[in-house]
Amino acid sequence: MSPASPATSTMRLSRAVTAVPPSGIRQFFDVVSQMEDVISLGVGEPDFGTAWRVREAAIYGLERGRTTYTANSGLLDLRTAVASSLFGRYDLEYDPEDEILITVGVSEGLDLALRALLDPGDEVLIPDPAYVAYPPCVSLAGGVPVWVPAPARDGFIPQADGLERHITPRTRALLLNYPGNPTGAVPDRAALNAIADVVRRHDLAVISDEIYDRLSYDAPHLPFSMLPGMLERTLLLNGFSKTYGMTGWRVGYAAGPKPLIAAMTRIHQYTALCASRQAQEAAVEALRVPEREVQATVDDYALRRQAIVSGLNRLGLDCHLPAGAFYAFPSVVSTGLSAHDFATRLLHEARVAVVPGEAFGPGGAGHIRCAYATSLNQIEEALERIDRFLDGFGRHAEASSLSENLQTVPTGF
Ligand SMILES: Cc1ncc(COP(=O)(O)O)c(C=O)c1O
Repeated sequence: MSPASPATSTMRLSRAVTAVPPSGIRQFFDVVSQMEDVISLGVGEPDFGTAWRVREAAIYGLERGRTTYTANSGLLDLRTAVASSLFGRYDLEYDPEDEILITVGVSEGLDLALRALLDPGDEVLIPDPAYVAYPPCVSLAGGVPVWVPAPARDGFIPQADGLERHITPRTRALLLNYPGNPTGAVPDRAALNAIADVVRRHDLAVISDEIYDRLSYDAPHLPFSMLPGMLERTLLLNGFSKTYGMTGWRVGYAAGPKPLIAAMTRIHQYTALCASRQAQEAAVEALRVPEREVQATVDDYALRRQAIVSGLNRLGLDCHLPAGAFYAFPSVVSTGLSAHDFATRLLHEARVAVVPGEAFGPGGAGHIRCAYATSLNQIEEALERIDRFLDGFGRHAEASSLSENLQTVPTGF
């Protein structure tokens, strides 16, 4: 008899967890990481590191021996800094004592919010396509994710009648993300007001993931909670990962109505206890980074946006100009390939990694997501490779084993 090993364990796992598909993006990039000379327009991660002054704040705290837990809600200094930043930028008033919770990134804030809001079977509306984590997080919280179409012809913004059509007596919440991943969409005030009307009429809660708020290129960002009557219905999620190049620090915040923040804190205090103290101290410093430095980063992204969008259109891949975030979402329909096949072949034949749109929901079909959080040189080189790939179109090898490996990229929930 062979000895027992962890690999042969027959341990039974929760049905809720086994029903959730692995992340399409992660699977794709596990394959990418095995390959050489790949230009990645894949993972949405800033290419600049955390500013030195921010790193030093964490190092200084460590040197002073500040290595303990913080309050469950987070350092009061950080909550106060978040409150004044929201007030300074948007005129939004949140009490740092009980309307702000420091979380382990937006990711934890999202999970806490869903668990605090949902009873089993409650439905959550999610514009399609959307950030990959939304449907699984809703399911893991016992809820039911419901896609609402937000197609390219509507600028990737859900329309009021589309939302209405998907509302049932079980609809509890709407998940919004503007500027949006994967489309870069930013609704104007009229479109947001139309959504707010539906929210009001059907008494919904809104979880608004505004992690890309600083990356709104053509107009100042408009938080959903600023719309009339939305402050008391909206949970604003944000963090430090994207704006301050702090993805690995794992720190973010939730700002919203006191009862919801209290319910989220109850879960957080038993699960995470608190976000890392060093990350919180670094985040306080990040909020002191002068506005001109943040703006310089935004301006840099704006140049990359122009380069990639005009390049893709020049190559015949129809691409709208994304108003925010750092993703271009061109259509590959003209190539006759599915997004999955296009991305697989592009990776294999041209060594450029992009994410097939299906990973973001059925509405992503026919599109690929190209993150432009990479240098202009890399963007130019990627465009040249895509050009050569499109030139040689039709002269490709038979479906490769790589393609078979990628068949598991989930479509839909
Ligand atoms: C829309 C969106 N929300 C949340 C996250 C995760 O944020 P955090 O690093 O703060 O957990 C990402 C990361 O790509 C994202 O694109």
